[in-house]
Amino acid sequence: MTNDLKNKVAFITGAAHGQGRAVALALAGEGVHIVAFDIAKPLSYPGYTLGSETELDSLRRECEARNVRCLTAQGDVRRDEDIRRAVEAATAEFGTIDILFNNAGICAYGLVHELPEEEWDAMLDINLKGAWLVARRIIPLMMAQQSGVIINNSSIAGLRGMNRLSHYAASKWGLVGLTKSWAIELAPYNIRVNSIHPTGVNTPMNDGLAALEGATPQEIAERSAGNLLPVPWVEPEDVSAMVLFLASDKARYVTGSQFVLDAGLLTR
Ligand SMILES: NC(=O)c1ccc[n+]([C@@H]2O[C@H](COP(=O)([O-])OP(=O)(O)OC[C@H]3O[C@@H](n4cnc5c(N)ncnc54)[C@H](O)[C@@H]3O)[C@@H](O)[C@H]2O)c1
Repeated sequence: MTNDLKNKVAFITGAAHGQGRAVALALAGEGVHIVAFDIAKPLSYPGYTLGSETELDSLRRECEARNVRCLTAQGDVRRDEDIRRAVEAATAEFGTIDILFNNAGICAYGLVHELPEEEWDAMLDINLKGAWLVARRIIPLMMAQQSGVIINNSSIAGLRGMNRLSHYAASKWGLVGLTKSWAIELAPYNIRVNSIHPTGVNTPMNDGLAALEGATPQEIAERSAGNLLPVPWVEPEDVSAMVLFLASDKARYVTGSQFVLDAGLLTR
């Protein structure tokens, strides 16, 4: 089968490390040019280590070693100005954008009645509103070319309740609403929209939450209770395998759907 991904262009948010980086490298391996967007600096909330400029630079070099071009852009998914600049730079470099992986996100614990309003706002603004702010700048490019793929990184928290994570879960359920509505709106333009729903993933987010909670990374992953398969978490490369499938023409009639990568957790 021919590689339909070759020479496509993917815009990936939260690309500096974790799942975004793994997806960038997997797509680059298939010949996809990469636009790697990341805040690349610390935020006082959630308070664990986010991506860095050094990581963006090394990602660019690793993509180039796979014989594709990689444009890095430092920016916040909450800031339209940052997004506009990155999308303009991407179109100047590549002409268009074919694939959007809406992946940037934060996670933090908080009891529903104790949660400060600023934490609620930050969670919803980054995880949910940010996905919309980015998509609305890229969708017109996809409409013009009558094709495109959008993949929203939700979570198992987008399909169930989570203890001390109600604001996180609300943002992730919100992404399902966006996914299904955008799929309806954009199908006439041959733009497919799906969401993915991983269980705990072995990334700096998981390590960061562990440090904040004084727990081990394994304990944090297991807190979400009960993968059926005997693993504490899945790896970022498991996520990229799913994203690669959804981005490719192998999934050409797949839209509006939720793809669970949960080691069986939701079956319980
Ligand atoms: N790690 C898990 O267990 C897990 C499980 C299911 C879903 N998810 C979701 O997957 C996505 C990726 O998570 P991860 O585990 O790779 O996390 P991570 O913290 O390891 O990486 C997230 C990346 O997003 C960037 N980012 C954060 N806020 C940003 C902002 N405002 N603007 C731009 N970039 C920003 C960070 O700098 C970082 O590089 C998130 O949406 C997360 O909620 C994570």
